[in-house]
Amino acid sequence: MKIAVAGSGYVGLVSGACFADFGHDVVCVDKDQSKIDRLHDGVMPIYEPGLDALVETNVKAGRLTFTTDLAEGIRGAAAIFIAVGTPSRRGDGHADLTYVHAVAREVGEALAHDCVVVTKSTVPVGTGDEVERIIADTGCAHRVSVVSNPEFLREGAAIGDFKRPDRIVIGAEDDFGRETMRQVYRPLHLNQSPILFTNRRTSELIKYAANAFLATKITFINEMADLCEKVGADVQDVSRGIGMDGRIGPKFLHAGPGYGGSCFPKDTLALLKTAEDAGAPSRIVEAVVKVNDTRKRAMGRKVLDALGGPEAARGKTAALLGLTFKPNTDDMRDSPAIAVAQALGDAGVEVKAYDPEGMELAAPLMPAVTMCKSAYDAIEGADAVVIVTEWDAFRALDLARVKDLANAPVLVDLRNVYRPDEVRAAGFEYSSIGRAGPKEAS
Ligand code: UGA
Repeated sequence: MKIAVAGSGYVGLVSGACFADFGHDVVCVDKDQSKIDRLHDGVMPIYEPGLDALVETNVKAGRLTFTTDLAEGIRGAAAIFIAVGTPSRRGDGHADLTYVHAVAREVGEALAHDCVVVTKSTVPVGTGDEVERIIADTGCAHRVSVVSNPEFLREGAAIGDFKRPDRIVIGAEDDFGRETMRQVYRPLHLNQSPILFTNRRTSELIKYAANAFLATKITFINEMADLCEKVGADVQDVSRGIGMDGRIGPKFLHAGPGYGGSCFPKDTLALLKTAEDAGAPSRIVEAVVKVNDTRKRAMGRKVLDALGGPEAARGKTAALLGLTFKPNTDDMRDSPAIAVAQALGDAGVEVKAYDPEGMELAAPLMPAVTMCKSAYDAIEGADAVVIVTEWDAFRALDLARVKDLANAPVLVDLRNVYRPDEVRAAGFEYSSIGRAGPKEAS
């Protein structure tokens, strides 16, 4: 089956490479000539474990090609996926659909056969209707079924998530759309991945509801973590204790510095706008967005406390370990590290940092921060070491070496990577998230 994917960002490239790996004949299209040139040279535009090897294998097998020419890319394709970005529109938080609409128009103008057009980008309810209208307005005389097929993959685990999904959601309005999508996902269906068929608007909403629910789960446990610190409880045990209830489930209950990334912040805002416009405002999601924003800034204050309070902190140095919004990505979008670095800089603290993959993208976002060659390089001379992102490389730091290099044995662990008793036994002043200890209980 021939498949075209418009947009070679995270979702487009991973989907395209995985579809090719299933045996489909895939063309990935992107307007950005330099991105396509680099892909032809085997250079990935993003850091995602396993993606380069998957792309290389499928390019060599002749199943995966790249082009900037949309009209050429979609020629003969049974399914055309729209996987371009839908950033937050500046000012109002609505999803910006400029790129989605532009692709729909170009597809309508170039189409010379019947096909299914699939929105894989995260798009507000009703976008499929608009895509259908745009294509019809181009005067396209062929049968086009517009389908919604949201993607649920996580950065850093994208290939596994795509190939072994909890579910595939397909919103279609006719049999042609449903049957074509069944063929697209046949290899996954054979692996027993469940497929939920529904209508287009429901499918579009499922994506936002899923992300908003996950963001709510994280924000809930983060608030419980604050409460734990006040009342002398341990949030990790609270997570385990509630997560063992099958109705709650153990995942996404890891307390931390607040969620970030390219999806939760943008999608919660877009859902709020949709809900408001529809006259069914979501108070819960509104609170989640506010609480999460406040939390990221509060993490800076936590570090200042560890440095002896705002007065004492002035002129001291903090070492940030991890800058990306989560490990195994180079993505800095809405990373809590940005708010932490900002708060520390504002308080007159000098900030050094190290991240295994994120420093190139982080540097322009935090110009006052000194980027270092290694974790230990950042730690040297620091008055506090702060774990902001839980990269594996920071899970087994040589604590004796950290103590030798640092100016003071102060560790702030915003991801609860370490055990309080062990770190304190190694002679550190240790603060973490929602785990009452000698320093944290009051
Ligand atoms: C998220 C969803 O998990 C995917 O299902 C979805 O497809 C994707 O958004 C999207 O809409 O494209 P992603 O943003 O890659 O994926 O990352 P997550 O692993 O979900 O993490 C998001 C944020 O929540 C990170 O900042 C992470 O540190 C934080 N988080 C996650 C927690 O603080 N605690 C947790 O227990 C889990």
